[in-house]
Amino acid sequence: KEHVIILGIETSCDETAVAIVKDGKEMIANVVSSQIESHKRFGGVVPEIASRHHVEQITLVIEEAMKEANMTFEDIDAIAVTEGPGLVGALLIGVNAAKALAFAHDKPLIGIHHIAGHIYANRFLTEFKFPLLALVVSGGHTELVYMREHGSFEVIGETRDDAVGEAYDKVARTLSLPYPGGPHIDRLAVDGSVTIDLPRAWLEKDSYDFSFSGLKSAVINTVHNAKQRGQHIKPEDLAASFQESVIDVLVTKTVRATKEYDVKQVLLAGGVAANKGLRARLQEEFEMLDEVDLIIPPLSLCTDNAAMIAAAGMIAYEKGKRSDLALNANSGLDI
Ligand code: KG4
Ligand code: ZN
Repeated sequence: KEHVIILGIETSCDETAVAIVKDGKEMIANVVSSQIESHKRFGGVVPEIASRHHVEQITLVIEEAMKEANMTFEDIDAIAVTEGPGLVGALLIGVNAAKALAFAHDKPLIGIHHIAGHIYANRFLTEFKFPLLALVVSGGHTELVYMREHGSFEVIGETRDDAVGEAYDKVARTLSLPYPGGPHIDRLAVDGSVTIDLPRAWLEKDSYDFSFSGLKSAVINTVHNAKQRGQHIKPEDLAASFQESVIDVLVTKTVRATKEYDVKQVLLAGGVAANKGLRARLQEEFEMLDEVDLIIPPLSLCTDNAAMIAAAGMIAYEKGKRSDLALNANSGLDI
């Protein structure tokens, strides 16, 4: 057979997503059903509600993807599914749907790590050039991942406390902005000035790890103290100052790792990759490193989707990785 068609399923958090991808890089169908509206009034993702939505949506989303691709299961070569990390009750819905499809249609089943998926979202834009470095920034993750070859992931730095998206969402909540707060902070920051002095956690001199809980607390304290003193802080300035602090650390460490590991490509991945300030600063810094390709996916490929899972699934498929029907959701899966 000339081409390989993978059906991908992603249900690790609050998007029910199914995609069909040809040869790991050509999008045939990409359906994402978001639950954000249902979680908004709680100010964050409620695991029980997420699971219930996935149960209601999964069959419809699979059908819609098949219809969009104008395909039958005859055309599908393998089923790839996010097995972790994420919310266990949410992951289970996708894993069980994938197992049912694989069993019913006698197709290979492949469990995929969510972060591998985020990284492979970049494959829709470019061929990977190794060695490469991926900066993964999402609601659950902040990682610098070194890749020597396809399917090989070495975490050289990670957050020791909050993920960067989590810090964004908590700061947004402090400013009474709706969930998810990242895009709102991003928008406010455009109209603000960096007037508030906030900390940057560089950690040990040679560490590629991150820490955002101190910064988050500093923002919360700043708002609290201002309220008590009856002072007014412009939310735009607070957003700009917070964002500057986040971006300084993310970009400085990424540039340092790019040089130390002598990589050919740097890939941006995860929901926070949608951040306009981060994208602009990275572009600026990498203009000076013209031997390194900086790849930044479009917004729709930054946030959770199943095309990225199918793309990562293609590599696993080629490497002969197969999961059996005992595949289980693993909320703390290591990459
Ligand atoms: O990758 P993702 O969709 O889900 C996880 O796997 O976590 O990332 C969601 C996170 C949320 O924390 C959201 O606030 C953040 O990405 N986010 C942003 C922006 N757009 C989404 N953070 C900063 N600026 C943005 N423009
Ligand atoms: Zn994600």
